[in-house]
Formats: sequence, C-alpha cells, structure tokens
Amino acid sequence: MVSHNEGQGMDRHLTSYGDRGFSRFLRKAFLASAGYDAVDLDRPIIGIVDTSSDYNPCHREMPALVQAVKRGVLESGGLPFAFPTASLHEILIAPTAMLFRNLVAMETEEMIRAYPMDAVVLLGGCDKTVPAQLLAAVSANVPAICVVTGPMLTGSWRGERLGACTDCRRYWAHYRAGAVSEEEIEAVSQALCPTGGTCMVMGTASTMACLTEALGMMLPGGATPPFGTGNRLRAAVASGRRAVEMAREGLCPRDILTRSAFHNALVTLMALGGSTNAIIHLIAVARRAGIPLALDDFQAISDRVPLLVNCKPAGAGYMEDFDRAGGMPMLMKVLEPLLELSARTVSGKTLRENLAGATAPGAWQDTIRTLEAPLGGTGALVMLKGTLAPDGAVIKAAAASPHLLRHRGPAVVFDSAEDAATQIDARAEHITPDHVLVLRNAGPVGAGMPESGSLPIPKKLAAAGVKDMVRVSDARMSGTAFGACVLHVSPEAAVGGPLALVRDGDLIELNVPERKIDLLVDAGELARRRAAFTPPPLPERGWARLYAEYVQQAHLGADLDFLS
Ligand code: FES
Repeated sequence: MVSHNEGQGMDRHLTSYGDRGFSRFLRKAFLASAGYDAVDLDRPIIGIVDTSSDYNPCHREMPALVQAVKRGVLESGGLPFAFPTASLHEILIAPTAMLFRNLVAMETEEMIRAYPMDAVVLLGGCDKTVPAQLLAAVSANVPAICVVTGPMLTGSWRGERLGACTDCRRYWAHYRAGAVSEEEIEAVSQALCPTGGTCMVMGTASTMACLTEALGMMLPGGATPPFGTGNRLRAAVASGRRAVEMAREGLCPRDILTRSAFHNALVTLMALGGSTNAIIHLIAVARRAGIPLALDDFQAISDRVPLLVNCKPAGAGYMEDFDRAGGMPMLMKVLEPLLELSARTVSGKTLRENLAGATAPGAWQDTIRTLEAPLGGTGALVMLKGTLAPDGAVIKAAAASPHLLRHRGPAVVFDSAEDAATQIDARAEHITPDHVLVLRNAGPVGAGMPESGSLPIPKKLAAAGVKDMVRVSDARMSGTAFGACVLHVSPEAAVGGPLALVRDGDLIELNVPERKIDLLVDAGELARRRAAFTPPPLPERGWARLYAEYVQQAHLGADLDFLS
C-alpha cells in the first residue's frame, strides 16, 4: 500500500495506483493539460478554499479575494490552487446554518488532506464558515491561514445609520408593535444590507473574524477592513504571500491553537461584547486541538474583562467604526496586560512581537475604550447552571433588561420553533410580561440548534410597550440579537434534559447574579414526568440523521463525537 502522505508539492498525497512513479506520471500529464510545466510543479502548492456562491451574498466579493490571494502566492514563489467547498449563508439556508457547520468542517478537512497542498488559505466570512474552517484547519493540521470577506458598510434610512442585523430585529419589533407601517418596513429592508460582506454589527461573523485574529490564525489587522476596500484586498495578498512562507516553515495550526491562544480569544470575546455563538464554536475548535475548554473558563474570563468595544448590539457603533479606530491590533494593545503574549501566530511572530508596533487608542476615537475607562462592566456573558440546566446555559447579560436579571415567573411552553412561530400571538391572551417563554426541542439533536432562542415578544404585549421578557431555550440566538434570553440549555430537551419536563404554569427562576436557572418543581413530580418522557424521533435519513446520532451537546461545542 502506498502512503498518501509522502513528498511535498505535487508529490504530496499521491493517488493510490500501487505504483508511485505511475501516479506521479499521470499527475504531470493531466496538469500539463492545464498549462503547468516542470518549473511550476517544483513549487510549494497553496490550496485556497473558495466559499463563494450565488447563495451567499456575504461572500459576493470572494472571487476578487481569491485572485488577491493567488497574486500573493505567486509573488512568493508558490503555486496557488483554489478549490470550492460548500458555502453557508446564514439567512438563505434551512433549517439553520449550524446544522451544516460540521459538514463543511468535515468536507474542508478531507479536501485539505486529500489534495496535494503544502499550506492552505481559508476564505470565509458568513457566520458558520469561519468556525467550520477553523475546525478543519486544526484537524487537518496543514499550515493554514484565515481570510474573511470583511463586514458590510452601513446603510441609512431617513437619516439614521442602519446595519444588519441588530437594526433588522429592532425595526421588525417596531413593525410587530404597529409602530412602523408596511411601506416603512419595506423601505427599511432595502437599506439594511447596502453592500456585500458580513453583518456589520458585532454579531457572530464579526465576532468570529475578530477571534480568529485573536487566536493567531489570521494576520494582524485582517479581521475588520470592510468589504470592497483596498485594505481588505491587501490582507488577502499578504495572506497568500505568508502562506508560502508557512509552507516552507511548517508552521501548523496546532502550533498556534494552544491554551494560550484560547485564553487570548476568551479575553477578546468579552472585550468585544461578542456573540454567544462564539462560546460553542471556541469549545469545539479547542476540543479538536485537545484543549478541554469549558463554560467555567468563559465565566472566569467574563468576571475579569469589561466591555471595551462600542459596537451594536452591546454598544452603538458598527464594524467600520471599529476598523477606523484601529481594529483588533489596537484592541489587543489595550488588552495586552491580560493576554498571553508568548502565543505564536500565523505571522511567524509571537503576539508580543505583533503588538510591539501597535498603538494605544487616541482620544480622537470613541469606539475602542480602555481598561481604565471601559464602555461596560465585567460579566457581559454569564454561564448559568441549575435544575433546569444541569450541564449549563448561557445568557448575554449585557444585552438583557436589568430588571429581568432576577426573575421568577410561570412558564409558557412551546414544543418547537414552528410551534412558537404559529402559536405565540394566538396564545397572547394568557401571557403577561412576567411569564417565562420556554422553547424546547431546538437543541443540537432536536433541530440542529437554530437561532430561535430570542422568541418574539407576543404582539399584544409588544403593542403595549413590553420590550423584553425572560426566554429560555436549548436553541441559540443570533449574535446581533438582544433580550433576557437564556440559551444553549444543556442537556437539551430532545435527549431528556429537564427542559423536556417543563409544563405550562411551572415556576422558573432566573438569578443571573447567582448564575442560576431553576425549575421550581419538586423532585417527585419531575421523576414522574421523566418516567413518561419519550424522545422525539430522529430524522429518517441523510446528513440530518448522521448529525442527530453523533452531535454532542452545546456545552461540548456541538461537534460530532467522532470528530472531536
Ligand atoms: Fe452573513 Fe450575517 S448573514 S454574516
């Protein structure tokens, strides 16, 4: 049996014909048809993962980025080979992009392993693409460098700056409350996404781009330049050049993704006021790297690091403001006393060396605050535990109404996201602002974990001015959303977690200062209900079936157990 892994460049991962010489001969013959000669085939091969797709408007400038990376590779003496993988657009894919994160991770990893490449440049952007590519990179462990499409520029409507998708949610809530007309919401829809690129608030895409830079998997300054700018193209060119050097050096993701790197990502996540989704993604990537990151690690950092970046939804600005203010290099300069500076990065330097030239924020800007004068306090993200979530749950306390952080109320239960969508207004007669809206069977096994955890306020209450209620679910919430939403309840209802046992009218108590979420039903009654519990059926076939059989719970990163 011939090894698949001997050699470099075109000699790498030879196709198995039982005769290495013949395999090489065939490879040369077919590449000759594409115009490659012996001079080309001596060079290091740099794979370029291209996730452009007509289905993914966030990636619509990716073809230009692929060309920019190719130019950088050629300038440094490498041979670029772009190849497609599946592309996940958060809004166009059903039932949720999260269901396919692990599929794209697996596809990307396998392609990196199967094709000859000495390094790879991963082009992503829209929410789940970047975590999928990080998972692939750490598992394949071939020299790898990440590039993103960059955030959209902001739009405007009637003189107000608008952006996806915090303002999408805000205006939709106004529309549901009757404060915005049919014509007005239509006009708003045309102003929310004025360019290609990713959502321009600190949602999941922006958070993951910034955390990829904090992890050391992206060149300094690569996370924030907006879509369509020269800075964005230059980041791609520089990444192509650097990938060739990394191929020669053999600097691999597992040299970079150490515990120090994850410490730095956690510190950055809190300072950004970033998405709760990042918790799941970072745990999954860390576990692939052999680092047992747990919810307690997030809490320990959340207790120490205040909110520093003034971007929606935790603040008021947008990613272009963050970029103009200095982006990640300036933020990490501010965070320097809290970071582990010996961490290696794709630049070939340590974080300390990368930050040596970065400057502290000047008074001319308002977006990146200092540790001495932060934008918000510590504890923006809180990890909860209790009888309703024995393995944990998460709340973005910074995005919740303060009066709901200690709350006790009767449950109103919805058995699925569809049930909630069709019934929430129909049941509004019986729902008060004190009720706790419970959504279940929306966890990893139950539904692939959609972003349905920020259930809408029932129309009747919204029209009466109610802006927030306690909501509890095993679902996720968009990083662009806000509200007193307890998310990622683990274990989820579909595997028999306590969430499956809640009935209408049961009292639920949320106590964020004490980090507790409890179901106030006595143990005997819960045992009776548990004995009667039957899990919902798994999907019958295909990826959804494989996923439901092997996916782990949210507190373990929702990775497939045989990949983790
Ligand atoms: Fe692509 Fe928001 S929909 S980043």
